[in-house]
Amino acid sequence: MVWWLLAGVICFSVQALAFVDTDPYCFSDDHDPYNLFATKTAYEVVRDKKLRIGVVPDCTPVMIWGLFRHGTRFPHTDEIKQQMGLSTFRDSVLRNSPHDIDMCNEDIDLLKEWSYNVNMSEADLLTQSGVTELQLLAKRLRSNFPDILNAHYTEDRFKIRYTSKERTKQSAEAFTTELFGSPIGLSESFIDDELLEPNHNCSVWKSSTQSEGLKRETTKFRSSHLMKSLVSFVSKRLGFRYNLTYQAMHDLYDMCRFDKAWNFKVHSPWCSAFEKQHLKVMEYDEDLDYYYRSGYGNPFTAKLGCPLIRDMIETLNNRTLVNTTEESTGPSAVFNFAHSITVRAALIKLGIAKDNNPITADTFSTSEKRQWRTAFLTPFAGNLIAVLYKCADQQYRVMFFLNEQYVEYERCKVGLCDWSYIYSTFKSEIDPSRCNRDFCETSGSSTVVPTIVVLGLVLLNLFTRFY
Ligand SMILES: *[C@@H]1O[C@H](CO)[C@@H](O)[C@H](O)[C@H]1NC(C)=O
Ligand SMILES: *[C@@H]1O[C@H](CO)[C@@H](O)[C@H](O)[C@H]1NC(C)=O
Ligand SMILES: *[C@@H]1O[C@H](CO)[C@@H](O)[C@H](O)[C@H]1NC(C)=O
Ligand SMILES: *[C@@H]1O[C@H](CO)[C@@H](O)[C@H](O)[C@H]1NC(C)=O
Ligand SMILES: *[C@@H]1O[C@H](CO)[C@@H](O)[C@H](O)[C@H]1NC(C)=O
Repeated sequence: MVWWLLAGVICFSVQALAFVDTDPYCFSDDHDPYNLFATKTAYEVVRDKKLRIGVVPDCTPVMIWGLFRHGTRFPHTDEIKQQMGLSTFRDSVLRNSPHDIDMCNEDIDLLKEWSYNVNMSEADLLTQSGVTELQLLAKRLRSNFPDILNAHYTEDRFKIRYTSKERTKQSAEAFTTELFGSPIGLSESFIDDELLEPNHNCSVWKSSTQSEGLKRETTKFRSSHLMKSLVSFVSKRLGFRYNLTYQAMHDLYDMCRFDKAWNFKVHSPWCSAFEKQHLKVMEYDEDLDYYYRSGYGNPFTAKLGCPLIRDMIETLNNRTLVNTTEESTGPSAVFNFAHSITVRAALIKLGIAKDNNPITADTFSTSEKRQWRTAFLTPFAGNLIAVLYKCADQQYRVMFFLNEQYVEYERCKVGLCDWSYIYSTFKSEIDPSRCNRDFCETSGSSTVVPTIVVLGLVLLNLFTRFY
């Protein structure tokens, strides 16, 4: 109890966790539910509906380089198996004594009506909502950048790439069909796994993500008082007289966020197991995990993203070298369709969304304003777009857009950066002799390095908190 009073003073709502005899939180009545679900967030939630991007006074966009995560997908096979089992779990909730269930009748009805209609053969594929996300993106980009995108497709003008996974191809298909008005005929030659799935076959990367050092903060958070009391709360809300496991609760959370991404307008009964504040804890749990596995907390993430950023820098730079009195010969747009890790690695190589202090198991209470919020970085269909402009003073400039909002890029003074400045800043970093996947096969210190780095990060964090 003392613990909870303390925690409450810091931030977390005591009320949300303490046992009170008032009416339970009624999710079905909540007209402003919490919709940020880390990397399983629907794109619609994240995009700024008011913003019109692309227009820069006295500048004309001349080239676009874009990297997209695939749209909303169906679960992996193992996730589908587990989610099929939720019908049984639902039945056991409904068998709990009505006096024990701490939910409003509307929420209980939602649970009764829930059914799971995903077929095993749909695993990993895009959902209809995922297709729509990419179509709408293409539509908006075309209207925001008509100079470049209101054109017929030719292989010379447009470079399209995706990975060998079906869902990235489906995303490219949805996007390009909408952009050009009809299918462009995607083929095997568009596949580039080495560039777009750089983690694939990268053994040093793989062992780094499994190292104990990098799991430390997540493990600590999952066994914290905060998380234990959340498990206890959810268990009681559903009418159980024992505590569910963390994993069982996480399965409910996953179903909640998949349901939401598939059909944004519908209330998922699995979300109703949580109150708003709890969904923030679960979101933080995910963000923490990504931070250390494939975020700023893993020093290999930037290496992973380097070849892709080299492609971006060189592609845009080549465009600035074209003799402008002639018609450009190279592509005027490059569109890459890949995975959330690809987008994260690219963002990290660029230094976007970097917090001054690392996030840790102990920083939840002060994390509300963190930059590292994967819902805003890599939601479904999340995208990073670099637009090269030629301005009236004959200079080239670049602007980065993350999910259609311009990035206040730290390496520039404002959102619009001089190309010569960006190029000279990155020139040495993208040298092919260092910016490659050779590190993947280097044996030896793969697990040691991250551990040291994590300790360093934690110490740094302690230091900055006390001084
Ligand atoms: C699932 O897909 C398989 C293969 O496409 C099909 O044979 C089966 O009828 C489908 N099941 C349901 C429930 O739709
Ligand atoms: C990964 O390895 C497999 C089999 O070893 C190979 O077929 C595939 O091309 C490799 N992929 C990459 C991106 O290197
Ligand atoms: C459930 O977990 C909470 C928090 O750790 C604990 O206080 C409580 O005693 C547990 N309940 C049962 C029935 O084990
Ligand atoms: C940039 O131009 C050079 C020289 O023409 C070419 O070798 C290189 O492949 C181009 N790079 C990209 C990413 O298009
Ligand atoms: C660009 O083209 C113009 C006219 O054709 C020519 O005079 C000029 O030398 C060219 N510049 C470069 C850098 O190739």
